[in-house]
This record gives sequence, structure tokens and C-alpha cells, in this order.
Amino acid sequence: TGFITLDPGYKNSGSCTSKITFLDGELGILRYRGYAIEDLAEKADFLEVSYLLIFGELPTAAQLVQFETDIRKHTLVNEEMKNIIDGFPRTAHPMGVLAALTSALTAFNPKSVNVDNEKEMYHAVCKTMGKFLVIATWTYRKSMGYPLNYYDNTKGYVENFMRLMFQLPTQPYMDNPVVIDALDKLFILHADHEQNCSTSTVRMVGSSQAGLFASISAGVSALWGSLHGGANQAVLEMLEEINKNGGDIDKYMAKAKDRNDPFRLMGFGHRVYKNFDPRARIIKKAADEVLATLGVDDPILDIAKKLEAAALEDEYFKSRNLYPNVDFYSGIIYRALGIPTDMFTVMFAIGRLPGWIAQWKEMRENKEPIGRPRQVYTGATLRDFEKK
Ligand code: CMC
Repeated sequence: TGFITLDPGYKNSGSCTSKITFLDGELGILRYRGYAIEDLAEKADFLEVSYLLIFGELPTAAQLVQFETDIRKHTLVNEEMKNIIDGFPRTAHPMGVLAALTSALTAFNPKSVNVDNEKEMYHAVCKTMGKFLVIATWTYRKSMGYPLNYYDNTKGYVENFMRLMFQLPTQPYMDNPVVIDALDKLFILHADHEQNCSTSTVRMVGSSQAGLFASISAGVSALWGSLHGGANQAVLEMLEEINKNGGDIDKYMAKAKDRNDPFRLMGFGHRVYKNFDPRARIIKKAADEVLATLGVDDPILDIAKKLEAAALEDEYFKSRNLYPNVDFYSGIIYRALGIPTDMFTVMFAIGRLPGWIAQWKEMRENKEPIGRPRQVYTGATLRDFEKK
């Protein structure tokens, strides 16, 4: 054990080889299976990108229709799952409920999947994509005390997200094409991001031969934290707090720069992107379009714009290469659509699902060994036992 390399946070350690996502943090490049994120966000839709990530190639038109149909077949969730949902208080955080429900899917779908059997794997993918979307939206319905909705077979996946969430009482943006398009883009931009915290968790849990639902449930828990997927909720809460305290941006900038103050400007900085986040550029444009189309007038958005401008000009932020990340803008769109703040990270999870599945599949196909890091022990040396 004399040659352990210590790398807290795995800042310089690779955990695997992967053919799924290419990321260059210096140049701000993100590609799924070789395709530029800018192209995919512009020209593909979310299920097409999901198929690409999971199976390695873009689907033909026929394959895509089939994929959508096969996912639709799996959108009925066992009615007994509702008993589990009923056991939660309405105030439970949707991410906690989602992690529990995803894990519970194993109980209702106990058959483990053989990753080397193409048909079985395809079936498991469709099942996961179908059921996860439904239970994700049910966490919101539960929190509102609304009846749970079912998938509408006449609509697409992203349109269904809006319907599952907002059908009855009907929400004004439910069928708005600009909204559906922005959500589609958001899901695409979140779909994979190589070995981030939640994806590494999915791989780690799966490496012990735990099943797909159990691994994804662990991914949901990892995503929940405010330094990862929870950042989009934290951004909005921060903007609300600034607004409540009179919109004093300078005060919060000073707090963020004070090294004795743990406060960080949420939605700024990234472990890997050190020049800009290419996802943020795309989503900033979509945010502008959505806000213009919906005619939203919101003091929170003004604060967001001012904060962004102030940080981009600031020496502290510039010298540390801290730029707005994807979560700075995603929350702004979600808010404009009437999605409650505590559902923001669930939105991220819906988008990230194909990435988790793709990475789990690749890890299994590559027959990765169980994830088991070492440590450097710094505790007590041998002590004589004496009762206290
Ligand atoms: N506000 C103020 N200072 C910051 C911030 C921030 N948001 N982010 C980093 N810093 C400072 C940090 O204090 C440190 O300063 P110094 O060198 O003086 O000690 C320096 O910048 C480097 O930071 P770090 O913590 O070593 O960087 P990291 O790579 O460990 O952290 C991060 C990356 C994303 C966790 C961090 O930037 C952060 O906490 N950002 C806010 C939370 C956030 O927006 N997270 C979403 C990330 S994107 C979505 C996702 O992938 O999940």
C-alpha cells in the first residue's frame, strides 16, 4: 500500500475509458459520440440524442419511430407504486421521492438485464426511459396534491412531460412549440457529461453488479446535491434572496469573493470548463427566445442579467475562470414555464437519464472491475482497549 496516489475529488484521475462523450474544458468543446453539442441541440430531438448516446449511432427515421413507440409501451407504471408515493409527506423534496421511486421500480421489475443480449438491453432501455419520465412528473403531482396523470400516446416524449406535469389544471404553455423546443434543447444539453459525480456514481454502483434501476436511483441522489444538479435550484433561491434583500448585487459579489465566507455565486464556475460552458451559450439563446415569446416580466430575471454582467467584468471571477454554467440559465427557463424551484433538479435528472443508461451499459459491456478506491489512513495507530 506504499504507492497510493491521493487525488481527492478525482481532479486528475481517469476512472475508465469511454466512447460516449468528448469534453475539452479548455476549448469549451462538448460532443456526444463525435457530434458537436451545438449541432445536436439545433438539429436533433431528445429521443434521437438518447438513442445516439445509448446505442452509439444516430437512429434512422424508422428506428426513431420504433424507439418512441417502444418507450410508449412502457409508460404505464405499476399502480401499486402509488402506495409508495402516498407514504411520503407532500412537503418531501421531489428528488428524494424520485430516488425512492426509481429504486422501487426494481421491486416491480425484478428481472436483471443481460447487457450482452441486445434485445434484453433495448427492452430495459425503453422501460427505463418510459417509466422514469412518468414517476419524475408524479413527484410534482404529489407535492401539489393533484391526481397523477398518465402518458398521452398521441404526443411525443417532451410534450408528454408537459402534459404529465400540467394537464389538469391546464397550464397555458402546455402545447407551446417554443416551450417544447426549449425543453427539448435543455434535455439534450443535460443528456451526458462524461464522468461527473452522478454518472460516476451510477457506474460505481453498477460495478458491483447492482441493477439498472438501483444504479440510476443512486445517480439521482448524487445529482441532488447543490454542487452538482442541485445548483439550478440553488441559483434561483439565491436570486430570490438577493431580490428580497433589495437587489443589492454588489453585496453578494463581495460575499462570493470573501474567502472567509463560504457563500458561492451559484451557477458560476465548473470543474472542467475553464473558459466557457458551451451548453450555457446555447441555453442562454433559448432562454432569451422563451422569455421573449412568453412576454415574461420578472424582477428575478433582471437580477440574473445584472449578476451575470457584474461577474463577467469582475477580476476575481475572471482570474479564476468562473463563467456562468448551464444551470445559471436553465433555472431561468424553468421558472418562466411555471416549474417550481424544487423540481429543477428533477428536470436535470430527466435530461441526464440517457447518459446514465449509456454509461452503465458501456461499463457493463467493457466488463469494468468493481469500483473500489484506496485511501491514505490518517487515524490513530494501535491503541489498547479499555472500557470508558
Ligand atoms: N463563486 C465564488 N467563488 C468560486 C465559485 C463560485 N461559484 N466557484 C469557484 N470559486 C472559487 C473557489 O473559491 C476557488 O477560489 P480560490 O482559488 O481562491 O480558493 C476557485 O474559484 C476554484 O474553485 P474550486 O472549488 O477549486 O473549483 P472546483 O472545480 O472544485 O469546483 C464547482 C467547481 C462547480 C463545484 C464550483 O465552481 C462551484 O461551487 N460552483 C457553484 C455551484 C454550481 O454552479 N454548480 C454547478 C456546476 S454545472 C452543473 C453540473 O455539472 O452539475
